[in-house]
Amino acid sequence: MKNFTIVANWKMNLLPLEACELVQNINMQYGDLPHNIRVLIAPPSLYLQSLAEKNRGTIKFVAQNCHEKEEGAFTGEISAQMIAASFCEYVILGHSERRLYFKENNKLVNAKARVALDAGLTPIICIGESMAEREKGKTNSVLKSQLKACLDSLHSESDIIIAYEPVWAIGTGFTPTPGQILDTHIFIKEELMKIQKRDLPVIYGGSLNDKNAKAILSCINVDGGLIGGASLSFETFSSIIDTSREISGN
Ligand code: PGA
Repeated sequence: MKNFTIVANWKMNLLPLEACELVQNINMQYGDLPHNIRVLIAPPSLYLQSLAEKNRGTIKFVAQNCHEKEEGAFTGEISAQMIAASFCEYVILGHSERRLYFKENNKLVNAKARVALDAGLTPIICIGESMAEREKGKTNSVLKSQLKACLDSLHSESDIIIAYEPVWAIGTGFTPTPGQILDTHIFIKEELMKIQKRDLPVIYGGSLNDKNAKAILSCINVDGGLIGGASLSFETFSSIIDTSREISGN
């Protein structure tokens, strides 16, 4: 039976009441998920603790980022330990928006992953090529160097999730074809075998929605999705969860 990890990345969206209502609806509908379907929600950090504390159950919570140091004078930042102490179990690292707008690089992502793991969090590490890199035929070499640097010296027993998110597919309505996604996930899994000597869940992100979820999640090496825009409405997000249940046979 296939395992799926379905992650809602809300980014900087939803006001407190909207966030509460959406989580409550998801919890009511999916409070009792089969063990092979993981539904995770990444709200803005301001709401993390209260949402996670009030909704402890099958749905788990995710921070959208953390700082690379354990503590200190870093105004405006939050630490991995704070996240772990706020009933959250996961953190998204290296999202392309962090790389683009906050100049985060692979080395920093690696340092963040290290503190996240030390705090007991599971990092969801994002990798992906830009359109220019794809057009130059560099997709695989970019992904390879991102994986190598982001996972550098991380313990090979750590719980880690990789999110493949082509930068050009995020928020654009464009996606690679299911065949291209399949090929890329095969490549990523081969690299993971070389770097970490094991299989890790590889989820797809970038304009994944209720319309294309079936085609994308049916790809054999796609272990779930990281969903931005379509996770902001209960209808579209629940439709994606239902699709994953249908594909996994429960
Ligand atoms: P999108 O975002 O689904 O809106 O393309 C995905 C992401 O950025 O994680």
